[in-house]
Amino acid sequence: MSTPLPFIDLKAQYARLKPSIDVRLRRVLEHGQYVLGPEVAELETALAGFCGARHCVTVASGTEALRLPLMADGVGPGDAVFLPAFTFPATAEVVVSLGASPVFVDVDEATFNLDTESLAKAIRETRRAGTLRPRAIMPVDLFGLPADYPAIDTLARQEGLVVLADAAQSFGARLGNRAVGTLAAATATSFFPAKPLGAYGEGGAIFVDDDERAKVLKSIRAHGAGDDRYEIVRLGTNARLDTLQAAVLLAKLEVFADELTARERWAKAFDARLSGKVKVPPRRSDASSAWAQYCVRVPGRDRVRESLAGQGIPTAIYYPKPLHFQPAFERFGSGPGSLPVSERLCEEILALPMHPYLDEATVARITTALLAAVAAV
Ligand SMILES: Cc1ncc(COP(=O)(O)O)c(C=O)c1O
Repeated sequence: MSTPLPFIDLKAQYARLKPSIDVRLRRVLEHGQYVLGPEVAELETALAGFCGARHCVTVASGTEALRLPLMADGVGPGDAVFLPAFTFPATAEVVVSLGASPVFVDVDEATFNLDTESLAKAIRETRRAGTLRPRAIMPVDLFGLPADYPAIDTLARQEGLVVLADAAQSFGARLGNRAVGTLAAATATSFFPAKPLGAYGEGGAIFVDDDERAKVLKSIRAHGAGDDRYEIVRLGTNARLDTLQAAVLLAKLEVFADELTARERWAKAFDARLSGKVKVPPRRSDASSAWAQYCVRVPGRDRVRESLAGQGIPTAIYYPKPLHFQPAFERFGSGPGSLPVSERLCEEILALPMHPYLDEATVARITTALLAAVAAV
């Protein structure tokens, strides 16, 4: 078998950034402020500046970045939160963890993101049923491509709902002339190591423009403290980002724009070799993607995957089941056939290796093997 490929090449990235990462980590070890050290505030200023949001509040994970804005808005029992069924479980999990109910919505086949017609229908039906109070919409920017925020915003305004974006996969992307981080009342992103901007452990951030919302989020991430650390003014939690992770992220942010350009370059190279032969990932003419994943749709997906694995080419399935099929969430859904696009995508989707440190020969190796495997099934 030829040399196995990495799915994401974090070693190549470390080789590039070693001097900067090592210096920054050593500085933290020397000053010893491991929680809310100076690198955390420095990172928050840098990230807010990067996307143009007024505030960035870093947190312990992308999941906490999703949960805290819901807590800040008092979302809880009796509330309905509308979100796509084709997403990572955390999007629904945070809603359920607060006693609220996720309402699963289908995605648009052309973007893999929230389908606004299905969304409008779900809101209408929820109001008609009368048991839940519609409160929030959580669009997900799947695989790095921003959701249709202008259409979602219009609907949210008509319905009096708040939009909390799950941008775990899309920090660095843009829609029109606005960057992810500025497209919703609150935007959550993740710094899980495999994300486009990844830490060396868990991490996340919330972007908001509203001063009061930022203050409340900072309070919730530190046990609900007010101006006095031991005056607990609201229910909070411990959701702070480690200073060491902030140091790593500051080093990675130096090359992040360049890495986004490289991801776009490799996505184009994949497209050029695959378009017209297999279904390539969606794009929007008015948006750029952060290319967290490059996902094709192929018939006989599992056999294709096995064939690639046999040639040292790792792939991944995001996601094998829509959320309304997951045992933990099925009671919130309407069963098989209710969200057909999400259900179909789960059967066909296949993520290829995607990271900034690919090269033409590797792209050729992956695409040649993929096309041969597809022809053989
Ligand atoms: C769409 C989506 N939402 C939420 C999360 C949760 O982020 P984290 O793993 O940092 O908690 C992820 C991470 O995989 C994700 O892909």
